[in-house]
Amino acid sequence: MWFETATFYEIPVHAFFDANGDGIGDIAGITAKLDYLQWLGVDCVWLLPFYPSPMVDGGYDISDLTGVRAEFGTLEDVGVLLDEIHRRGMRAMADVIVNHTSDQHPWFQEARRPGSDKRDWYVWSEDPGRYPDARVIFIDTQESNWAWDEVAGAYYWHRFYAEQPDLNFDNPEVREAVKDVVRFWLDLGFDALRLDAIPYLYERDGTICENLPETHAYLKEIRAMIDAEYEDRMMVAEANQPPADVVAYFGDGDECHMAYHFPIMPPLFMALKREDVGDILKALEATPPIPSGAQWGVFLRNHDELTLEMVTEADRAFMYAEYTPDPAMRKNVGIRRRLMPLLDNDRSRFELLYGVLLSLPGSPFLYYGDEIGMGDEYLLNDRDGVRTPMQWEAGERAGFSEADPASFYLPLVTDPAYISDLVNVADQHAQADSLLHWVRSLLHARRLLPVLGTGQFESLDTGDRAVLGYRRWNEDVEVTVLANFSTVTRMVPLAAHQVDLRSGAIYRADVELAAHQFVWLEPSR
Ligand code: NOJ
Repeated sequence: MWFETATFYEIPVHAFFDANGDGIGDIAGITAKLDYLQWLGVDCVWLLPFYPSPMVDGGYDISDLTGVRAEFGTLEDVGVLLDEIHRRGMRAMADVIVNHTSDQHPWFQEARRPGSDKRDWYVWSEDPGRYPDARVIFIDTQESNWAWDEVAGAYYWHRFYAEQPDLNFDNPEVREAVKDVVRFWLDLGFDALRLDAIPYLYERDGTICENLPETHAYLKEIRAMIDAEYEDRMMVAEANQPPADVVAYFGDGDECHMAYHFPIMPPLFMALKREDVGDILKALEATPPIPSGAQWGVFLRNHDELTLEMVTEADRAFMYAEYTPDPAMRKNVGIRRRLMPLLDNDRSRFELLYGVLLSLPGSPFLYYGDEIGMGDEYLLNDRDGVRTPMQWEAGERAGFSEADPASFYLPLVTDPAYISDLVNVADQHAQADSLLHWVRSLLHARRLLPVLGTGQFESLDTGDRAVLGYRRWNEDVEVTVLANFSTVTRMVPLAAHQVDLRSGAIYRADVELAAHQFVWLEPSR
């Protein structure tokens, strides 16, 4: 299936390009930049929620599940974007937020009315102590998963902001309504859907209200519907859970086609600081096998905080100590910084992590702007600091919009090391040795190696705790990956002659890896 070897590229719609000059990125703006994405080597464009929303949670609080936010354009604009994406041989993914709506959604507005026949569409209680074992996710702002509603005269359940009441999946009408939302976006032409916050659909007494069997049963229903009614479509599970619970979202090949590999992400950052790849290997070993035809989605950063919810307390303390010199960089249980600032603007570390990300089992998800090493503005509200306008050119508007920068939906990055005069697409496009060209060449090298998407995986003992080694292979090809997580040169002995797939260099007895260097090797003939 196409997604097994695809590279995904994530775009918050307001952040990419403003085609109509109002200071807010829009759907037409993405259409205008498709040549760039195609040139870069992107296979699937992932649009973050573009639906009508009060924007309490960056658009994950939706007031119309089948509409388009007026500032972003119209359904026709989305249709044009999909046509243009498909015309270029690319695919498109949308978010479907099934767990909750905005409190402004007409369903909730109706449900709160006394005597409403929609009351049961959400989860109500007179007792705000119910489900005491369910954790609070947005710990910086929410004290409880229950909020009082004056109109209803009852508490309602919400796993995220109080402005995002959870739908009640015990209600068959809700289950059908959500299926219709899935159908709506697939009918419009989306190739893939990301199922947001999927572990939290059901609540049951005496549980943590995550990963419940009822949730899996419902996912199987959606999958059966997609298999029966559509071709070549795919669903990604957004389930930030320990390995054994994440793999459950593949079912027996009858639930989601993909799931994000949350457990492998923090270890990649830990290994850099510890100069020890043990945590990466542990995470890979703890990853159970997945059904054939299923695929992991691997990523380094996204539009949220770098989540540390699933790591041990000691590792969390280590990550905070190493990566948040300013406590304001912490958000909820995680770190609200972009990739390049996390890596101290050090290109060799960036290249190392990309070299590993693009060769690990799974399909890579890249975050907009990382390909030019964009910075962040972490003091902005919530996670907005990693959602600032894309930097297309030098100058006070960064080529993002014709509007007055004071009216941009968010300010441009002001950190002097990352301002648009220093970090932008146009300059890097013109420079053959730029990070942008390097990322592009790695994506194109990966395209020639489908084995990196679908091949077998086996870790290698490099005899050096600082050097990660693994083999990816199928019946035709074998690729050996070696990655030096230390700050000094390392020698890695080889069992057989190898050729560097990217440079053509031949290695006989051993490979010398400079600090943070990685290689993709194949046996020399
Ligand atoms: C996960 C999304 O990535 C995040 O941005 C959002 O806040 C929560 N789900 C709630 O929808």
